[in-house]
Amino acid sequence: MKTKIFKQAEIDQAVELLKNGELVAFPTETVYGLGALATNEQAVKNVYLAKGRPSDNPLIVTVNGLEMVKEYALEIPEDAQKLVKKFWPGPLTMLLKVKPGTLPNAVTGGLKTVAFRNPDDQLTNELITKLGKPIVGPSANTSTKPSPTTCEHVYHDLQGKIAGIIDGGETKVGLESTIIDLTVDPYVVLRPGRITSHELSACLGKDVLLNRGKPADGEIPKAPGMKYRHYAPSCPVWIVDKPADFEKLPLSAEVGVAACSDILSKLDLADSQIYDLGKNLESADQHLFASLRYFDQNSEIKKIFVQGFDQGEASYAYMNRLNKAASGQHFKK
Ligand code: TXA
Ligand code: MG
Repeated sequence: MKTKIFKQAEIDQAVELLKNGELVAFPTETVYGLGALATNEQAVKNVYLAKGRPSDNPLIVTVNGLEMVKEYALEIPEDAQKLVKKFWPGPLTMLLKVKPGTLPNAVTGGLKTVAFRNPDDQLTNELITKLGKPIVGPSANTSTKPSPTTCEHVYHDLQGKIAGIIDGGETKVGLESTIIDLTVDPYVVLRPGRITSHELSACLGKDVLLNRGKPADGEIPKAPGMKYRHYAPSCPVWIVDKPADFEKLPLSAEVGVAACSDILSKLDLADSQIYDLGKNLESADQHLFASLRYFDQNSEIKKIFVQGFDQGEASYAYMNRLNKAASGQHFKK
């Protein structure tokens, strides 16, 4: 299969493909998603195949607003409406109870809940509106690889396996959405993202817990995707916790270093490869996955060192993804 790249003006072709049960990747403000008509069971199954994703890992249902959620959720709690008003369209995914029989089991992984998200991307919202139905939207990467933040990343992983990609340029946020579970009391953030539990809690006027622990063996994890190895390039990654530690790195042509501009400018990096994460945490969020992919494609690189951040909850999303890429490994001199 030839994977076609669609520009903005060609969006109707993407709509037709999706209607026919084909897979089309789409841009969002966080990372690119892999779209299929959420009500078409075979198309949804093909999403798992294209990604090489374990079938017990449910998919996000991507909508163009709250009206569409009403068709697939058993109920819309008042708090969901408050969150939608403040954060949608945006990088927030809400877990609600599913209305039985409205979505194939392949979407929910057989769970009684379903995750809804309305991305802040004009093209993608237009796509869903033209389709009149939601699309599933897991990140459009091969399972375990870093999520894609450009059309080229998607093409690299899925060319020949999907019908098309809508090119919306580089994504702005760069890390996947915050997931809040509204089916439990108190509410829990299952995956940290740009929107913090403090912001959610302030909006709702009640506690929102942060689920940072690993599930015990045998226990069903709440966001099944969080248990797998993830975001990982093929060579080992180390987290560098303190800016001063960059001076102690074993630099060589086999080493890749990803850090903010201020750190890189002070280093004598000899012949090692560098990736500039920009000026602050926000730009590091945006470029973390791209940096891991950049080094992964350079066969000379055997070790990757990436800057860590310790900025309270603002850096949880970044550190959560980096910890997975590094399997929790920190550079120690
Ligand atoms: O920013 C994002 O959320 C991106 C863009 C494309 O929208 N999508 C994304 O999807 O990150 P994915 O499939 O890579 O991650 C979704 C996560 C997985 O960890 C999955 O286990 C969890 O959401 N999830 C989905 N449905 C769930 C459910 N019913 N209950 C618990 N967790 C669920
Ligand atoms: Mg993913």
